[in-house]
Amino acid sequence: MDKLLIQGGTPLSGEIAISGAKNAALPILCASLLSSEPLHLTNVPRLKDITTMLRLLVQMGVEVEDLGADGLVLNSRGLDNPLAPYDMVKTMRAAILVLGPLLARHGEARVSLPGGCAIGARPVEQHIKGLQAMGAELHVEHGYIHATAAAGQRGLSGARIFTDMVTVTGTENLMMAAVLAKGESIIENAAREPEVVDLANCLVSMGAQIAGAGTDKIRIQGVRRLHGATHAIMADRIETGTYLCAAAATGGHIRLTNTSAAYLDAVVDKLFDAGCEVRSERAAITLQAPARLKAVSIRTSPYPAFPTDMQAQFMAINCVAEGSAVIRETIFENRFMHAVELIRLGADIKIDASNAMVTGVDHLDGATVMATDLRASASLVIAGLVAQGETQIERIYHLDRGYERIEEKLGQLGAKVRRLR
Ligand code: EPU
Repeated sequence: MDKLLIQGGTPLSGEIAISGAKNAALPILCASLLSSEPLHLTNVPRLKDITTMLRLLVQMGVEVEDLGADGLVLNSRGLDNPLAPYDMVKTMRAAILVLGPLLARHGEARVSLPGGCAIGARPVEQHIKGLQAMGAELHVEHGYIHATAAAGQRGLSGARIFTDMVTVTGTENLMMAAVLAKGESIIENAAREPEVVDLANCLVSMGAQIAGAGTDKIRIQGVRRLHGATHAIMADRIETGTYLCAAAATGGHIRLTNTSAAYLDAVVDKLFDAGCEVRSERAAITLQAPARLKAVSIRTSPYPAFPTDMQAQFMAINCVAEGSAVIRETIFENRFMHAVELIRLGADIKIDASNAMVTGVDHLDGATVMATDLRASASLVIAGLVAQGETQIERIYHLDRGYERIEEKLGQLGAKVRRLR
């Protein structure tokens, strides 16, 4: 298993380009299942999760052409195996996103139940409830969701769906199912995340009729068929935020291109409060860190509030800030696994259920730590960049799921980072 070796203490400086968004690319890859014509995607990040999703689609019968820097072309005209097996779903929960599109176009799907993961139980009953409201029959047997709709492409019927909580992939799955359903669907309490909007934009360019994406009420008028399209995946706002935090923590000065602050208001606001200067251009962001950061309290919530996917990184910066801060996690019940590893580096963190009290210390000391999930790993990288001496991060396959060429990008910013294979 690869490890990352970080020699801390260098302020990050320089410029890097941000990659396409993992959490936009994953549902959009699944959208290719909705048409028999080619879907050309550009700005696709080259990540482990993307490779896993492509492997899953290929074994279903989707043809994938890799155009290198020009992106990917997916063609699902030969789709013949609507199955998402356990061994793939267990490594990447986003595989559940094939359920809606498979049902809509194929009338049938067999998708393994994802089960729990390192950050919480993460059930998918809202996906199931919504698809049932559209007329699909779903039952769980031997750990698999078996789903069928009346034969033919228009087996699903439009429905009014209210999700019990805001769910990102739930909204995306239901939106993809509704685009080929008969009549109108309304998703209430929909996720407003920018990645949902990016998916909607891609679907619209394929001929779907969708209004209200980006609000909590999405209206979809089903159409008979979707056609091919070309779509550029949006920039990764979480990768952007992660590098901003790394620069902030190390007292650095960086410029990030191929991205925008447009979807990062809550994060940029907190970086301001921490004492950073953040300047936003049309397609770039610059951050200049202060001599010492001020601790900032955060509370995670669905978009547009502070994202849970940035919570761990802010815990890392609070570890070396002046003062104390409370971090409240409201989305996932078990997303503080990084805290115990940060404590091994000398951080002062006290956990009480879903609250973490972090008191800044003068310095962190390098040590060997273990990555437990994707964003937890990012927080350990940030802490390692600040810590005195050497930090070794184990199990970085988590990091490779969501950060493209991380050691190369950090190296470009002057960090001393090496991968041990
Ligand atoms: N939930 C249910 N039942 C459901 C669906 C969700 O109880 O049927 C709960 C979840 O357990 C959680 C909350 O609702 O407590 C929100 O979960 P959501 O469904 O929004 O999460 P997700 O769609 O599985 C996506 C991202 C996550 C990100 C969350 C929250 C993708 C592929 N994943 O997950 O990204 O943390 O939304 O914003 O889009 C990551 O990139 O590191 C990551 C974990």
